[in-house]
Amino acid sequence: MGVYDVIAQIDSQSIARAAELLTSGALVAFPTETVYGLGADASRDAAVAGIFAAKARPQFNPLIVHVADMESAKAFGDFSAEAETLATAFWPGALTLVVPRKKHCKLSLLVSAGLDTVALRIPDHETARALLEAFGGPIAAPSANPSGRISPTEAEHVAEGLPGKVELVLDGGACKVGMESTIIGFEDESPVLLRPGGVSREEIEDVLGGKLRKRGPDKSINAPGQTSSHYAPRAALRLNAKTPEEGEMWLAFGAGGPQNIPGLNLSPSGNLTEAAANLFAYLHMLDDTGAGKIAVMAIPETGLGEAINDRLRRAAAPRHM
Ligand code: TXA
Ligand code: MG
Repeated sequence: MGVYDVIAQIDSQSIARAAELLTSGALVAFPTETVYGLGADASRDAAVAGIFAAKARPQFNPLIVHVADMESAKAFGDFSAEAETLATAFWPGALTLVVPRKKHCKLSLLVSAGLDTVALRIPDHETARALLEAFGGPIAAPSANPSGRISPTEAEHVAEGLPGKVELVLDGGACKVGMESTIIGFEDESPVLLRPGGVSREEIEDVLGGKLRKRGPDKSINAPGQTSSHYAPRAALRLNAKTPEEGEMWLAFGAGGPQNIPGLNLSPSGNLTEAAANLFAYLHMLDDTGAGKIAVMAIPETGLGEAINDRLRRAAAPRHM
């Protein structure tokens, strides 16, 4: 069986088959508006354990649980007034809320990796929603890539990254947002940014009517996607580059910068939403050239630029895998 044979076009049959596979405890990859998720029945220990094995993911790194609606979210987590405000404003969407876990709920303890909280999200993607509905329960799903590597934004990325590890990949084409969800947790009831992502800080601050604190790096890591090296291509990355050096592939942003050199432009018009949508696919492509070195131009830190720079810094960090 070739690596791409697991990829299925989306129709009512493939959705029904994916739901059956989930019910049987198998892993199914599916598109969301952010990145592709590697899904398993979130209420079944053995199925959730399969996710950790397939990704070679450290057991201390908890998973996001995807749910169909607010009612299900409330069956698994306790929502403070502020959590509810954010859910109402951004769900379905690219926001994950880390809330206290409801005691005795049916979620596997493995999704929380020993914490007394749970990360919840209602995705804004037709296929993801159809799958949640057909399956009829919560789906645990991290990004469908080997741990520490670049997140998948196309079905082919999943098939190539996790060969033989996933039963079925529903092919929803390229992910619209292309960047993982923003993760918000709560400290003494007040929201903190655990991971910048597809919903910008500015949008969240607008809803909160105030500044969003970022968890300091000195805090005990409870969002281990926050480990310093993550989202890494095989190639070495050089950030804030002004001109390419010998042997480097060039990852440009905006109209300025050197012209006619081998590489790609995240957004020739300097649009950060477009750049976010292209980031992982372009890193995959440049990596696949075998160049070994990628130089990236500076990206502004506003809007989705905060998430883009977060991923680039981690991709450039010294590897410890
Ligand atoms: O957009 C996304 O968020 C995608 C799609 C598939 O939904 N999922 C995703 O999952 O990016 P993953 O596993 O690659 O990243 C989830 C992050 C990790 O950094 C994890 O540590 C954090 O969420 N997380 C999960 N549960 C948590 C918890 N209870 N407390 C703190 N962080 C948590
Ligand atoms: Mg991930």
